Amino acid sequence: MLSAEDNLLLTQVGKGTPCGELMRRYWMPVAVAKEISDDKPVKRVRILGEDLVLFRDGKGRLGLIPEHCPHRHASLYFGFIEDDGLRCAYHGWKFNVDGECIEQPYERANSPLMKQACQTSYPVQQLAGLIFAYLGPAPAPLLPRWEMLVRDDGVRSIVVLPPHRCNWLQAQENSLDPTHTYWLHARLFERALKDRPEDRKPWAADLAYFSRPIESYEFEFCREPAWSGIRKVRTYGGDRPQKESGHPAIFPNILVAPQGPKLTMHFRVPVDDENLAIYWVEFQANVDGSRVKQADEDIPVSWLPDPLQPDGDYRLDHFVYQDQMAWETQGRVFDRTTELIGMGDRGIVMYRNMLRQQIQIVQEGKDPDGVIRDPALNDMVRLSLNSELNKLAHEMAAAK
Ligand code: FES
Ligand SMILES: [Fe+2]
Repeated sequence: MLSAEDNLLLTQVGKGTPCGELMRRYWMPVAVAKEISDDKPVKRVRILGEDLVLFRDGKGRLGLIPEHCPHRHASLYFGFIEDDGLRCAYHGWKFNVDGECIEQPYERANSPLMKQACQTSYPVQQLAGLIFAYLGPAPAPLLPRWEMLVRDDGVRSIVVLPPHRCNWLQAQENSLDPTHTYWLHARLFERALKDRPEDRKPWAADLAYFSRPIESYEFEFCREPAWSGIRKVRTYGGDRPQKESGHPAIFPNILVAPQGPKLTMHFRVPVDDENLAIYWVEFQANVDGSRVKQADEDIPVSWLPDPLQPDGDYRLDHFVYQDQMAWETQGRVFDRTTELIGMGDRGIVMYRNMLRQQIQIVQEGKDPDGVIRDPALNDMVRLSLNSELNKLAHEMAAAK
C-alpha cells in the first residue's frame, strides 16, 4: 500500500514532476518509421504529457517540436512540409528540425519576434524501424543498441499495441508479477478459446508453458554496466517441472519476454499520467546462426486493434488483451492507497523502491541507472538471455 503522496510521486510523468524528470533521462519510441512516409511526413506525438509534432523535412531530416505554433497556437500538424522545415498552415511561420523559426511572412525584417518564436526541439533517432526521442536535458545520452534491435542473425518484426487507457506504472508493475500468468493468461485463454480449437493453435506454446502450477518464485536485482532491472524467476511443478532462468524487467519501462520462438522487447511509453503507448520489437534468431540484411523498411509491422467492445467487455483471446484488461480495470491511475499487497507482490515492492531511489539520483543531478554515455558499452547491449525458455515452450507445445 502506498500513501496518496507516494502514489503521485511514482506515477506522474509531466515536465517538472519527480518521476517525469526521471523518465526524461531515457530514449523512448514515439513512432514506427513507416508512419512518417513521403505521403504523410508528419505525426502528432503525445509523450510524457507533452504535445509534439514529429516530421521529416523535404531533405529527409527528422524533427520533433511542440505541436502548437508559438504565434497563435494553431496545430503544426496541418502545416506544409518544405525542404528546410515545417510551415504553419495559419500564417506561414516556418520552423526547421532544430525548432528555429526561419520565416515569418508579413512581419518586419529583423523583428525580435523571429528569435522569440524559436521552439524547443527534441533529439530523434531511427533504429530497428522505430523512431526514438529523448526529452531530457542536454547532452543526450546514447540511444541503447539493445541486442533485439541490432542483431543480424535473425529477423525482426514490430507490434504496435492498442492505446492503453492507464498509467504506465500499471504495465511495468505487471512485469514484476510472477503469478498472474496462471490465471490471467493460462486459465483465461482456456475460457476464451474453449470452443475455438483452430484459434488455440497459435497459443499452444504459451498455454502449455503457463498452465503448469507455480511452486515458488523469487526475484533478483540485475546490475549490468549498461542497464539494470529485476528478474523474476519461477519454479514450475506439474508434469514438466522447471526453474526458469528468468527474463528481466529493465528499468524503468521495458520488459524482455520470450513469445513463442521470438524474444520480444516491450517499450511502455507514458503518453501522459492516464495513457500509455506500447511498442514491441520481436526478434527471431536463425537456428543456424546465418546473417540477414533486413532494412528498416522491410521490418513487418502489425497494429493490434482495440479489444474493448461497445458493451464494455474486452476480447480476451489474445495475450495482450488479457493484460490490457487487467491494467485498465485497475483504474486510469491505480489508487494504491487501498491495495492489499501479498507475498506475490514482492517484486513490485522492490521495483517501487528502485523507482524512488532513481528519482532521488536524478534530483541530485546525477545520471540514473541505464543511461549510457560510453560508446564502448553500446556497440550492442546484450541481455545474456538464454533460449531455454523458448526451447522448452516449443517442446511442450509439440508434445501436446
Ligand atoms: S498560428 Fe502559426 S503562423 Fe500564426
Ligand atoms: Fe501478462
